[in-house]
Amino acid sequence: MLAELSLKLIAEVQCAAELLDTQSRICILTGAGISAESGIPTFRDKQTGLWQQYRAEDLATPTAFERDPKLVWSWYQWRRQLVHEKKPNPAHLALAEWQQAADKNKQNVTLVTQNVDDLHEQAGSRVTHLHGHLWRNRCHDCGTAFENETKAADSSKAALNFDDELINCQHCSGYIRPDIVWFGESLPEQAWQTAEDAAANCEVFISIGTSSLVYPAAGLAHLAKQNGAKLIEINPDPTPNTIVDITLAANAGVVMPLLMQQITALSSQAQDQL
Ligand code: APR
Repeated sequence: MLAELSLKLIAEVQCAAELLDTQSRICILTGAGISAESGIPTFRDKQTGLWQQYRAEDLATPTAFERDPKLVWSWYQWRRQLVHEKKPNPAHLALAEWQQAADKNKQNVTLVTQNVDDLHEQAGSRVTHLHGHLWRNRCHDCGTAFENETKAADSSKAALNFDDELINCQHCSGYIRPDIVWFGESLPEQAWQTAEDAAANCEVFISIGTSSLVYPAAGLAHLAKQNGAKLIEINPDPTPNTIVDITLAANAGVVMPLLMQQITALSSQAQDQL
């Protein structure tokens, strides 16, 4: 794995590890890029197949759903079919491992995601979803949660049906939609409060795999910076985030395991010196 990384990047990872090893309050924001190496297209990747004529931004809106509920519902059923067998990649696993280790070495690692997939949960992380959950549904009109009646008892996705028949709410006969925050809709209050508190009180803020284009999530980095935090960004491509202190310009699935290795090595060196 090291062979893929330049000496410059390895030095930057070391610098990030030294910073993280000495701080106790860390806030991490992930975006679609962290799931890219699991085979899930990022939000702004060109759509494929039947959906290549549509932009995600034009379908993920309440207006689009009210205009053509069948089109939007079919798109989400297609996305569910596309991702239901995808698994966490080394970036998700490294984050889960870090969060579990943090509990032991008195670090507080808050993980917040813009993603609607459940790969962080599958990897074993505790995570706050700002933009909802692809695997949950609710009524568009009365908001009542809708349990997919074909969901197997162990909530495995194997029993999920992907047909695109519209479903009516049993309470108000409104249409069932994914429990996802669409453009123009407000974020879940509790989730946003958790994210804001973590960003405002952290010593290091790490953004992983996000284009930092969509607010209010993209504003969390600025909130952290205003409160004195150092910023680390993990993304192979440049973003408009100009306030970053350490940029690790590589794939998260390559950088995250290396970063965790470096942090673990530093912690054990410190232990040996005690
Ligand atoms: N590792 C790290 N970053 C990656 C990787 C990778 N392997 N592959 C791609 N990226 C980066 C891309 O360079 C891009 O900057 O991930 C970012 C993904 O950006 P978007 O597709 O814009 O996704 P995201 O930032 O999560 O979008 C934010 O906008 O449209 C809304 O609700 C939607 O949650 C989404 C939000």
